Amino acid sequence: MCGIVGYIGFRDAFPILIKGLKRLEYRGYDSAGIALNNGNIKVYKCKGKVSDLESFIGNDDISGHVGMGHTRWATHGVPNDINAHPHKSQNGHFTLIHNGIIENYAELRKKLSNRGYSFKSETDSEVLANLIEYIYLKGNVTPEIAIRLALTKVEGAYGLVIMANKQPDTLFAARKGSPLVIGVGEDEYFLASDATPIVEYTKSVIYLNDNDVAIIKKDELVLKNIKNDTLTPKVQKLDLDIGQIDKNGFDHFMIKEIYEQPKAISDTFRGRVSATHDITLGGLYDILPKLENARRILIIGCGTSWHAGMVGEYLIEELARIPVEVEYASEFRYRKPVIYKDDIVIAISQSGETADTLAAIKMAKEAGTTVLGICNVVGSSIPRETDGGVYTHAGPEIGVASTKAFTAQVTVLTMIAILLGKRRGSIDNYLYKELIDGLISLPNKIEEVLKHNNVIKEISSHIKDAPNCLYLGRGYLFPVALEGALKLKEISYIHAEGYPAAEMKHGPIALIDEKMPVVVIATKDSSYEKIVSNIQEVKARKGVVLAIVTQGDTVIKNMADYVIEIPEIPEQLAALLTVIPLQLLSYHIAIMRGCNVDQPRNLAKSVTVE
Ligand code: F6R
Repeated sequence: MCGIVGYIGFRDAFPILIKGLKRLEYRGYDSAGIALNNGNIKVYKCKGKVSDLESFIGNDDISGHVGMGHTRWATHGVPNDINAHPHKSQNGHFTLIHNGIIENYAELRKKLSNRGYSFKSETDSEVLANLIEYIYLKGNVTPEIAIRLALTKVEGAYGLVIMANKQPDTLFAARKGSPLVIGVGEDEYFLASDATPIVEYTKSVIYLNDNDVAIIKKDELVLKNIKNDTLTPKVQKLDLDIGQIDKNGFDHFMIKEIYEQPKAISDTFRGRVSATHDITLGGLYDILPKLENARRILIIGCGTSWHAGMVGEYLIEELARIPVEVEYASEFRYRKPVIYKDDIVIAISQSGETADTLAAIKMAKEAGTTVLGICNVVGSSIPRETDGGVYTHAGPEIGVASTKAFTAQVTVLTMIAILLGKRRGSIDNYLYKELIDGLISLPNKIEEVLKHNNVIKEISSHIKDAPNCLYLGRGYLFPVALEGALKLKEISYIHAEGYPAAEMKHGPIALIDEKMPVVVIATKDSSYEKIVSNIQEVKARKGVVLAIVTQGDTVIKNMADYVIEIPEIPEQLAALLTVIPLQLLSYHIAIMRGCNVDQPRNLAKSVTVE
């Protein structure tokens, strides 16, 4: 989604803005722009990449110590130079960049048109720029008052940075629903939609809350809400290192993040799982009695996080015997679900900013339910909206396709399920110990799977030209099939579907012929015999089978066209291991097809609009 970066201070703003925009490229975008204020506001913007913007600016005078930059992911209006941000108001009094959506923009646009305003772009953001200017001129008020008054009239979501022509020493920032972070330096401030552009300059940050408005000069920050109450800014320490947001010698962030999984998982359970087999989850401490006695657990999320939630459903139902339902946040928020006060909602999100998940949380809270979060980005909106939760601590995930976030989320859900099972007396000591030992052994086992990278690359070359691909799994491995299929389609653009293996004969079997690769996740578990039969069914119809099997398996090896072996692991933990070869498979296939794996077309890293 759109990215924001801003600077005010003693340094040249331009290099900070360009570098910041490059750091934000991972969020997904289709055009970029900057505005510099050197007593006179200059705007440069164009469709395409940040590098296109640099070429477009060429040798122009880009001096100035105040500036802002934006990467746009189109919502209102096609990606083109005119719709790119920043947008100037009609008479040039205000220039702004905007993330989010102004829902009542059509009505506002009409009213402003009736009052003589015309619009250059199709965007909702230009409407806001003109609304601020209209209030400013009509009311003869200060830029700050005009901004606050305008924001009381808009419905929807915004993260905004605004420049006022008559106040060149100030940046205005405001947030509702779209994240904004302010980096605090010595005589300088940085602004960004997430901390990645800021971390190399300062670790002191202020996360804006909804309805906050910041009035920022190089040596002063005033924080208010839109009603004009003055607020005390809460400065926090950023737990992020610059090394974490570089590729560190890897060709792409995605492959770097796949290889980071042993460490990411260790970081997820570090300090939470002890050698004496105790599990401590500080963020759930106060809520544990409620959680353990929940009538039902509702898990909500989107995309990969929803797949992690599905593994969580299987784990919690088996180990803790609490009924669980998993739902797409986008469906949950718009249908009329039954929510009981003694339900517990668990929202899962890597970014902590997904608009649908946030809206579903608000709805659950309105129904009086306790809401917990499982998030990766510290300080993001979901952890701040929830009653408790667990950070995954997987480190920044920059590749658009989620990899380490998934395994970290499943690790957290596994800890929750084991902990609840123990407290409710629904798992015996043997299984409890086996699962904890299994969790502790996971980083080493993932390292072993990663050693098969070259074999997986070789197999990828046989699958890369397929137009379709089917992924099959049973039990804990069904969500893995869904996740494997999602990874393939989102970065290689091959159509792929995940199915419970037994469902194949209710429809998808009709698709199978010698051109259809079928990836079967078939490790030794309680459904092993059944999945062997499913593989036979595929082979009988000449399908090409790639099977993920347990080390030493000979039965499937004799039937499948290709196999990838993974170490033995209890079936409750198998999702955490079997997903790794599927991530590598999609990575290699996408590279072989010449796709941009870190920034797949049309996709955004954090989906902050519905
Ligand atoms: C897939 C992917 C998306 C996200 C989804 C939810 O690889 O990354 O499907 O999982 O957009 O995002 P978060 O977890 O940030 O809420």
